[in-house]
Amino acid sequence: MTVFVDDAGWGDPVGGVIIGIYRVETEEYLSREIEVTHFQPPNFTQRTYLNRGLELVLEGFRCLFVQKDEPIHVCRGVVLDGVREGLTHRGYEVIPTKIEGRLQELVEASLVESLARLGLPNIPTVSGKERFFRQLEWIQEDLRRRERFAKTGWKNWPTKLRHWKPKWRQRNRGPTTPPVIIKLGGSVVTDKTKPSTARLDTIELLVKEISAVKAHPIILVHGGGSFGHFLAEKYELHQGGRSKRKKLGVTQTIHEMTRLGQIILAAFQKANRPAVSIHSSSIIVSLRGRIAHMDLEALRFFLNGNFIPILSGDVTADSVTGFTIVSGDQIVMYLARLLEAPLVIFASDVDGLYTADPKLDPSAQRIPLITPETMEEVLEKVAMGAAADAADVTEGMRGKITEIFKGLPESGEAIVCDLRQPGTLARILAGKEVPSTRLRQKSAR
Ligand code: IPE
Repeated sequence: MTVFVDDAGWGDPVGGVIIGIYRVETEEYLSREIEVTHFQPPNFTQRTYLNRGLELVLEGFRCLFVQKDEPIHVCRGVVLDGVREGLTHRGYEVIPTKIEGRLQELVEASLVESLARLGLPNIPTVSGKERFFRQLEWIQEDLRRRERFAKTGWKNWPTKLRHWKPKWRQRNRGPTTPPVIIKLGGSVVTDKTKPSTARLDTIELLVKEISAVKAHPIILVHGGGSFGHFLAEKYELHQGGRSKRKKLGVTQTIHEMTRLGQIILAAFQKANRPAVSIHSSSIIVSLRGRIAHMDLEALRFFLNGNFIPILSGDVTADSVTGFTIVSGDQIVMYLARLLEAPLVIFASDVDGLYTADPKLDPSAQRIPLITPETMEEVLEKVAMGAAADAADVTEGMRGKITEIFKGLPESGEAIVCDLRQPGTLARILAGKEVPSTRLRQKSAR
């Protein structure tokens, strides 16, 4: 019988290289992956992928019981140099070939599958420009965490590809100043004790304050409050699922979140300020609850057109669990990193983060500044100030602070404050002090 060996991914900036082995007569196929670390320094210059490729092919041959009298057609690609040489040395009849047809389709499909597992969805099965730049764009969305999946051993990685900016950034960035992102916490815009109850007066007041801002593009993200959390908990939507009951829970939650969004949008209409709702559930794909992809094309056009795009924490499609809940905080920080927002404002029902609940404990102290270095110290103070549910309080706060630091640009700042006090937003944007907690990557700037 005849065996073919082909590779895919050599020219793709993300992930390793797939090797596919195919026996024509029986249509048996298996694939293995030369790990991406072989395409990173120092391995890449030492060409460690040559040996690794041979190891994987020999292992594949054992699985398929490939015999020495079967002719082996091996693709001519450089990455398989070691395979051709090693197989010949071991007495196989090796025929260098240009591979086309069925095996080529299969190995490209294996590559696309492997990229999808990394969280890179919908990559074209045909290699080419589009596939290449989609991968670079994906890396750029979160360079800090995703660079480890890239073929950083390539000569032009440090000099060129690493600094590449997606076209839409150049084309659609326009002359605008970077946006200020505002998160309206669910406990400000809704009554958290009563299902689906909006605080209409507060919403109108906040929207009036936001609408008055002229000098900065603004993106607004709101939380779920009593429109989202009751349902998310009832149906345990964080965990995803398959049952019809849960799926109807998804429908109901999206419906309620849209209702809250409509109330906020109506307030902008009343305030005479152009705004648009952008449904997070339609533009985000997450991977185990973390945003893996967000389609920002429409948002960018609206932002440049001087609209306020409104998003929210929401149910999102999840490539592992089917669906999940992504919080408004995560969306805010994802956008902050991607759009290099210098300022992120968390509008809360208290004017900052406190050592204890200021509504219950008069000795509670506001924490004026938190940096990654002071975070643990702050959490210790909070734990001491908290009542019986100390673990819940500190873990909740730890989650929020960690989320903020994950996305906060080096020179950016996040402010937790109470925007219901008229003039507070204007003061912040004018660079003035307001009662608040500020979060920065470094204490001095
Ligand atoms: C939650 O968003 C969204 C849903 C539960 C559907 P957030 O987690 O940002 O909401 P709040 O601000 O805590 O209410």
